Amino acid sequence: MAILSPSILSCDYMNMERDFTECKNMGVKWLHVDVMDGIFVPNITFGMGLVKSMRKVTDLVLDVHLMIDRPLRYVEQFCANGADYLTIHVEADTPENTREALLKIRQLGVKPGIVVKPKTPAEAIKEYLPLVDMVLVMTVEPGFGGQKFMSDMMPKLKQLRTMLDEVNPACYLEVDGGVDLNTVVTCKENGADVLVAGSAYFGSSDKAAFTKAMEA
Ligand code: DX5
Ligand code: ZN
Repeated sequence: MAILSPSILSCDYMNMERDFTECKNMGVKWLHVDVMDGIFVPNITFGMGLVKSMRKVTDLVLDVHLMIDRPLRYVEQFCANGADYLTIHVEADTPENTREALLKIRQLGVKPGIVVKPKTPAEAIKEYLPLVDMVLVMTVEPGFGGQKFMSDMMPKLKQLRTMLDEVNPACYLEVDGGVDLNTVVTCKENGADVLVAGSAYFGSSDKAAFTKAMEA
């Protein structure tokens, strides 16, 4: 069984609460929150304030993806504001600070995740695998929704599933970027069990059927 995590990057920003409620009614269990700082990625979205407001209006699992430089500076606030999963980029800081951030997230009662950009090899996160509850493999360059799925990330996905099976088999393996009803097939074949979909979910005319098909 897979889990769909619709990315709210593609929701209607003037009607967010309505969209979150609709997600729940469609059978969605998670929401993916893309935090971008304009430095780590060339785009700016939303921050810890939105997470706090979301926590007040939805009981869906908040899967927060931090695309920010030196995330250690902010993990405490995201945890306090209601993130359930807090995922940081391995490219965003030194190994010491990355480890400290992951340990801090867990200490604060939140599930830590580590994410790799397309050009970053699986080996770059080997040392963090025992410390996390989720590994995220980007299947586009982070920054924008609606980009083309990079199928050449599939060997890395498979490699990470094999590595996780040895040291942390319960850890989720998530994919993010260009995931839709077609590209999800290869993602699942290569070991993904959490599927982020922004434009494909919010652009779907039958969101309940989309959710069911993605999670099948
Ligand atoms: C990209 C974000 C994604 C994005 C995916 O940097 O991390 O979560 O919302 O959007 P789609 O599903 O449209 O590719
Ligand atoms: Zn994301």
